[in-house]
Amino acid sequence: MTVLPTRLDPAAPEYAANRTAMLDKLAALDTEHAKALAGGGPKYVERHRKRGKMLARERIEALLDPDTPFLELSPLAAWGSDYPVGAAMVTGIGTVEGTECLITANDPTVRGGASNPWTLRKALRANEIALRNRLPVVNLVESGGADLPSQKEIFIPGGALFRDLTRLSAAGIPTIAVVFGNSTAGGAYVPGMSDHTILVRERAKVFLGGPPLVKMATGEEADDESLGGAEMHARISGLADQFAADELDALRLARRTVLRLNWRKPGPQPDPLAAPPRYAEEELLGIVPGDLKVPFDPREVIARIVDGSDFDEFKPLYGTSLAAGWARIHGYPVGILANAQGVLFSAESQKATQFIQLANQRDIPLVFLHNTTGYMVGKQYEQGGIIKHGAMMINAVSNSRVPHLSVLMGASYGAGHYGMCGRAYEPRFLFAWPSAKSAVMGPQQLAGVLSIVARQSAAAKGQPYDEEADATIRAMVEQQIEAESLPAFLSGRLYDDGVIDPRDTRTVLGLALSAVHGAPVEGARGYGVFRM
Ligand code: COA
Repeated sequence: MTVLPTRLDPAAPEYAANRTAMLDKLAALDTEHAKALAGGGPKYVERHRKRGKMLARERIEALLDPDTPFLELSPLAAWGSDYPVGAAMVTGIGTVEGTECLITANDPTVRGGASNPWTLRKALRANEIALRNRLPVVNLVESGGADLPSQKEIFIPGGALFRDLTRLSAAGIPTIAVVFGNSTAGGAYVPGMSDHTILVRERAKVFLGGPPLVKMATGEEADDESLGGAEMHARISGLADQFAADELDALRLARRTVLRLNWRKPGPQPDPLAAPPRYAEEELLGIVPGDLKVPFDPREVIARIVDGSDFDEFKPLYGTSLAAGWARIHGYPVGILANAQGVLFSAESQKATQFIQLANQRDIPLVFLHNTTGYMVGKQYEQGGIIKHGAMMINAVSNSRVPHLSVLMGASYGAGHYGMCGRAYEPRFLFAWPSAKSAVMGPQQLAGVLSIVARQSAAAKGQPYDEEADATIRAMVEQQIEAESLPAFLSGRLYDDGVIDPRDTRTVLGLALSAVHGAPVEGARGYGVFRM
């Protein structure tokens, strides 16, 4: 074993300051997560309960195997938008009858569970995760369909939801719809396009048009039950495969359905005997400085997330601003790339490129731990070919076929975000710590660039430059970019799969690695390992 040493001193004042800064950010995050948990608020939650119904998360809990974890995804979706935090839907990965499933549940306490533009993005992301990792899907449905005032944002792209369901099925990935309430109009295609459907007696309403619409369209008088009730669909239309007596019965039937899938995961389960890290995960709170300009050693993070703190470093003496090496997390082999000093130079880019290729040769998933301000700029570096070398790394990341997991620990700026497998490079999962910041560049740099451009423009026109206005604009721009770089804002826009407590990193990565082994793990073939 090659056990990583630690230099972290929990008694040092810097550790205490870093920890306090992280705990403050976590407290702020808890407040935002609580908003998602509160759903539509006490009035709607109470009304829902009075109707004898379970909340979205209660349904999920009753579906899952007892005492097994649920990796909730994107709980902060819609943060910073006009829509409630959480986007009226819960999504995540959990185990049903021993099978990892992708689960979604509409939250009917939020505007009748209607889908707004963020609900749609969250649902589409869930489908993408199911497809790429080959996870059976269970949709727990109760939704007022499209959020009508925002229909222009969802009607046309929203067709992808139903398309995905049938594509999942075509790919051999089972889809199950459990309908607890309204699932009308377009929503009717959720059960309509699923492999298996379970409808709850006197609750499920599945019709293309409800009674008022039918009256308007054809003049026919009809009631909810005869148009789309569970019993009608179970006995007459045949849309319902199972007729559930109540919500718990429906969830029992869903569990039985999963059991009968005879689903076989191609990859291994997490290793229950995997050695925990040698150092306390609690200490992950004290590593990242409150000020991201201060560098930190990512090996201190690696030492607290990998099995036995055992890490075999690749080229430790070369391209030292990037740490790379092999380890295991909950028994799964991984290659880890972690920014060590912020900036990526040519050597780091070449080292990363070779390492990514090696991981592909060996079919080993990659974990990217971000803390980068981007690729180095300046005459010396341009002349040294930093574009070429950065392009090699981006090329390697883009064409790599092993699963990628990204964790934004600190800065993730500029093309460094791309090279380290940012969102657009389709990591299977991307999580952020509360300390993360991501943008095209740092707020001060961005404001400074704008100021230089404005100054040059004024000079070119022969106009005087207003220094006072410049200072005000710079401050405003800095503030705006800072706000737009923060994890809650980015998570709200679905640019990650969730903001996590650093102490949970090993657990979250373990769950994600287990999920990615739902599909065969095979690296890119067709190129040899070339040295650069
Ligand atoms: N778009 C926007 N807002 C909606 C909505 C929708 N599709 N469905 C419900 N809401 C709003 C309601 O206006 C209400 O807002 P308010 O409390 O501020 O007045 C809130 O969500 C709760 O709706 P409510 O009707 O009181 O809840 P319910 O549980 O009794 O009924 C539905 C839920 C979904 C059955 C019912 O609201 C409904 O039929 N909605 C329209 C369904 C529809 O035709 N959708 C079009 C699909 S394309």
